[in-house]
Amino acid sequence: MGQSYILANFDLVEGEETRLYEMAKSEQWNASTDIDWSKPVGWSKKLTKETALAYRADVISQFWYGEQGALAVCAQLIPLVPDMSAKLYLSSQVIDEARHTEVFGRYLNLIGGPTQLNPHLERLLLNLLEAPGVEEKLVGMQVLAEGLALDSFHSMMDTTSDALLRDILAKVSQDESRHLGFGVLYLKRRIAQTTPERRAEVEKALAGYAHLIAKSTGWRNPNLPPPPAHWQVESSGSSFAEYLLKNLRGRLSQIGLKLAA
Ligand SMILES: [Fe+2]
Ligand SMILES: [Fe+2]
Repeated sequence: MGQSYILANFDLVEGEETRLYEMAKSEQWNASTDIDWSKPVGWSKKLTKETALAYRADVISQFWYGEQGALAVCAQLIPLVPDMSAKLYLSSQVIDEARHTEVFGRYLNLIGGPTQLNPHLERLLLNLLEAPGVEEKLVGMQVLAEGLALDSFHSMMDTTSDALLRDILAKVSQDESRHLGFGVLYLKRRIAQTTPERRAEVEKALAGYAHLIAKSTGWRNPNLPPPPAHWQVESSGSSFAEYLLKNLRGRLSQIGLKLAA
């Protein structure tokens, strides 16, 4: 691993990874000046403000914790990858994840502050931080967690009645699409060069991560007010897990990996 810290040649891979690094540099945005923080926080008038913001703060808190995990795992990956293109690209992702941590943190403070971290999400983030193999970290963070974030942001963008939150999610999603794109392209190349035994190890870790995702969608924060009667919380949780896992399988098939049924 030590030999990956400092490389002897400046050798950029011509192709998608370098193109994504160029995109990352030109698409940088500033959470202080590119978000209109003077927009008032909105909520569905079908709910009381207190209930609407309590549930929203719980969802945004999980995003915020996830962004902190992404920041830490992404920084870990820089010395572990052996090629210059990937190091430069991942460095751009570190500042993206810092900005996401900032923007969700600022928004959370407008709606009541962070709530409890979902214990299954916490386990997933710790497993990714502690994973010894670079492929496990890459598939867990760059494909599974990035895909989960993107699917969750899109779903929230479609349903939220808050214009400020929609603006934030649109900006963050643009970055997350690039992160997921890198994950799929880079892993496809790495996985093609590994042995079947190594691929089986990565798929085993992946099955554990996916299991935690499914469990995390069924968890309810016990400190939230009771859900309004017209919400079908339990059934929507399991169908959302199915939707996430279906999307994950599609992304893995592009890489050459399988998720055990
Ligand atoms: Fe992010
Ligand atoms: Fe990301």
